[in-house]
Amino acid sequence: MDHFKYRNDELWCEDVPAASIAASAGTPVYIYSAATLRHHYRAIARAFEPAGATVCFSIKSLSNVHILRLLAGEGSGFDVVSGGELARAQAIGADPAKIVFAGVGKTDEELTQALRSGIGLFNVESEQEFENISALAGRLGVKTSAALRVNPDVYDPRTHTYTATGKKETKFGVDIERAVRFFQTFGRDPNIRLAAIHIHIGSPIYSPGPYVAAITKTLELVDRLAGMGFKVDTLDIGGGFAADYEEGKSPLAFSYAEKILPLLAGRALKIVLEPGRQIACNAGLLLAKVLYVKQGGDRRFVIVDAAMTDLVRPAMYGSEHFIYPARLPAGQPPPPRHIKFCPPGAQKVDVVGGVCESSDFLGKDRMLPPVASGDLMAVFSAGAYGFTMSSQYNSRPRAAEVLVDGDKWRIIRRRETFQDLLAPELDV
Ligand code: LLP
Repeated sequence: MDHFKYRNDELWCEDVPAASIAASAGTPVYIYSAATLRHHYRAIARAFEPAGATVCFSIKSLSNVHILRLLAGEGSGFDVVSGGELARAQAIGADPAKIVFAGVGKTDEELTQALRSGIGLFNVESEQEFENISALAGRLGVKTSAALRVNPDVYDPRTHTYTATGKKETKFGVDIERAVRFFQTFGRDPNIRLAAIHIHIGSPIYSPGPYVAAITKTLELVDRLAGMGFKVDTLDIGGGFAADYEEGKSPLAFSYAEKILPLLAGRALKIVLEPGRQIACNAGLLLAKVLYVKQGGDRRFVIVDAAMTDLVRPAMYGSEHFIYPARLPAGQPPPPRHIKFCPPGAQKVDVVGGVCESSDFLGKDRMLPPVASGDLMAVFSAGAYGFTMSSQYNSRPRAAEVLVDGDKWRIIRRRETFQDLLAPELDV
């Protein structure tokens, strides 16, 4: 699952005690494990190797350039959704041929940036966008390639409605019926080679079933298009593989591959994958310090120095991250990573931040060992959509990020300062 383990009652990341990072980098701090990132990347790459798949890590899940460099070193390409994410990939010298660019609202500036840098695939989400890319490519005198993003109209009932994207009624892509017309209209464009289909059915998808349904429908479309003389040679199946917010709850990469690969056998299709969460989620935790413990009616609040500004998922989606003190009470075994785990002597608490919103909580109704001011609390499985969704609300500088590799660690993003907060306003 990951390389965050308790040893002698202390939480370690690989071969570094979490407390020693906090002592020198301060809190709140995101701590990432290089070994865990590599492990999950390799598991996916290996599972889909028989299809010769290109893995394009989804930058939106974890966008720190030092992490991107690590993954590029493993052979990863990148899925980007903005000029900013593309700039991150460019900053580490990522291979442009292995960059795919999705998003319903790509601006002319972003499209121009991507055309100039020669990215591998535009994942096109509408007719107007296709026309726009073609016009811009014509003006720049460049040729490019595109995938049409289709909605296969399947979904996983366990996916939060905010992150389910495969249904017809979403803003993403075009529905399958419209796809045929799309190819008829744009399939022979002089500037864009349209020979790929992209799907992304949501995030997270907790079982292979929805992929099987979506890919099956998409392959029917591919065959129909072939019959009309439009050859599709690339299928981008998007992201969405689940990750373990609780121990052992999500399928491993090979379980998805086991069901997906047979559908593709015998077809000369290049496969692209865009995983984010399954690589990044368990590779990171948010370490916070307890500031105060207080009682409010019959609720007990543990107030920590991290908040919804650092990790918004609980407030935004009701997501549950396992939370536990970084030092175990003497004699207690390491906890299983289950939200409902109740250690001996536990107290029921809400773990909350200091932001002026009632939705500012990191965990509710958690059974935790008693904690006191100054104790460190780890919020696990926070590597994906943690730091990348952080904000400066309440004028709180963003946390630092640290990367651990074996017994070495380094700061990969310094803690923001008040100067960082104010500069864009004082600079004008
Ligand atoms: N490809 C596309 C086109 C996507 O929209 C996404 C995620 C991915 C790939 C990566 O999905 P993953 O493998 O990470 O599941 N903020 C939410 C998740 C939003 C996902 C948006 N799109 C959360 O914290 O759960």
